[in-house]
Amino acid sequence: MIEVRNLTKRFGAATAVEDLSFVVRPGVVTGFLGPNGAGKSTTMRMIVGLDTPTSGEALINGQPYRTLADPIRTVGCLLDASWTHANRSARSHLKMIAAAGGLPDSRVDEVLSLVGLTEVAGRKVGGYSLGMRQRLGLATAMLGDPEVLLFDEPVNGLDPEGILWIRRFMHARAAEGRTVLVSSHLLSEMAQTAQDLVVIGRGVLRAQTSVEEFLSAARSSVLLRTPHVDEFTAAAREEGINATFDPEEGVFLIEGLPAHRVGDLAASLGITVHELHEKRASLEEAFMALTDQDVEYHGQETTR
Ligand SMILES: Nc1ncnc2c1ncn2[C@@H]1O[C@H](COP(=O)(O)OP(=O)(O)OP(=O)(O)O)[C@@H](O)[C@H]1O
Ligand SMILES: [Mg+2]
Repeated sequence: MIEVRNLTKRFGAATAVEDLSFVVRPGVVTGFLGPNGAGKSTTMRMIVGLDTPTSGEALINGQPYRTLADPIRTVGCLLDASWTHANRSARSHLKMIAAAGGLPDSRVDEVLSLVGLTEVAGRKVGGYSLGMRQRLGLATAMLGDPEVLLFDEPVNGLDPEGILWIRRFMHARAAEGRTVLVSSHLLSEMAQTAQDLVVIGRGVLRAQTSVEEFLSAARSSVLLRTPHVDEFTAAAREEGINATFDPEEGVFLIEGLPAHRVGDLAASLGITVHELHEKRASLEEAFMALTDQDVEYHGQETTR
């Protein structure tokens, strides 16, 4: 469990994180979403004691990172995958960290196998692909078999196969009952990876919710295509239903009513339905609606 309580971080006059509070529970993957510069990395660094909060606190299993009796067995993180020594092999890199953390050498082979690097473990990390380096980062995070895991943008730059592999890895760790916090600005990716979401913009909490709720809270409408435009318009007016006809597309957009109710209404009127479905906002649209005002550098609107 991770608890962030009224966390604030200022760099000089700039506020990177402001009065941020949220809880990350075990057993699910929690996505930490926000546009560039929102304060995701700063928050994660404060959780693992790499940055000192200006005020507030972050607790791991009820304690600040710095007071944990056995940090490597409690929390594992991958904050930046480019830190490894290029001339070391993956195995010697892991052995060094295991030794420093008082972990048995046997863990090195276990985590190498967990991330599928056993066969290349003797090779110099300098020759690794980005995907292999990410796997090594995950292996490092897993060395102490920690209950709490933090990953900062782990799929950045990976190909679809690498992304899928990391997604499965996250799911498996959460299914083991661990607490998994993973940051990203790849929203559609998060919709498939995370069950819970913490959304921030300009260092401020915008939402803490499940992916499911986040999507359904996004404005949704029902699309109806029928040749009986006049009949449906009249019926909608009579029933006080918010239905707008789009003459260009030749469809009605109905708000505040689920699709099955629209279908029932059409049936009761005896009118033909050519198309009927719910139009859900995508995660991107929902996210933009929440954080639009937070983007640090807006692109210039294109004018014609
Ligand atoms: N060491 C620092 N000194 C000064 N400002 C900083 C420092 N670290 C971060 N910031 C600022 O704090 C804000 C939040 O940065 P942070 O890296 O936490 O955002 P992020 O959400 O991780 O963004 P990204 O998606 O680009 O990784 C930014 O405005 C950044 O410029
Ligand atoms: Mg970042």
